[in-house]
Amino acid sequence: MKFFVDTADVAQIRELAETGLLDGVTTNPSLIAKSGRNFLEVVAEIASIVDGPVSAEVVAMDHETQMKEAEKLIPLASNICIKLPLTLDGLKTCKKLTDRGIQTNVTLCFTANQALLAAKAGATFISPFVGRHDDVSWNGMDLISDIRVIYDNYGFDTEILVASVRHPVHVLEAAKIGADVCTLPPDVLKKLANHPLTDNGLKAFLADWEKTGQSIL
Ligand code: E4P
Repeated sequence: MKFFVDTADVAQIRELAETGLLDGVTTNPSLIAKSGRNFLEVVAEIASIVDGPVSAEVVAMDHETQMKEAEKLIPLASNICIKLPLTLDGLKTCKKLTDRGIQTNVTLCFTANQALLAAKAGATFISPFVGRHDDVSWNGMDLISDIRVIYDNYGFDTEILVASVRHPVHVLEAAKIGADVCTLPPDVLKKLANHPLTDNGLKAFLADWEKTGQSIL
């Protein structure tokens, strides 16, 4: 499973990129607003930090303006992935960009039928939002399972990018289903490494090592 980080915080991206665990970055207009930075500048900086896809989202609703916005974003870096809303206009833009070899991420997916349309439009990634489904008392992971079955039935190449991830159990469930990518808030990615028994075990090992009076170096 690939891990993307879902943030426009450059300091956090740098820190996580150094772990070697980061395969890409996703942003959205809310995350850009939170960063307080110029959209084009921050996206270009992020794309210079990671080698993998960096999703930059258009904000226009209509196809023509989405294409114009995409034309501004594409030259920023070779790893820019154009993020598009799951609307008919967004899908039309997705198809046009895909045909040109541009990476695309179709976002705000809440049904398996929407995911089917994105795959038919040639999307590189489909972003089903699990946490927002859970928020309204519907199991978001059922959506991931349905999309996995449908994509496998027809051999679609579109990668399932699990979005709106809120905690480590989302990652575990997505991995069991066989989702291709999870995009994670930085704190959730860090939490994956934590376990109190690891901490306790390490403490005991180091205390015993201290008793030996030895040094490896
Ligand atoms: C994905 O690309 C979105 O940016 C993100 O995962 C949305 O998450 P949220 O529902 O926590 O805002």
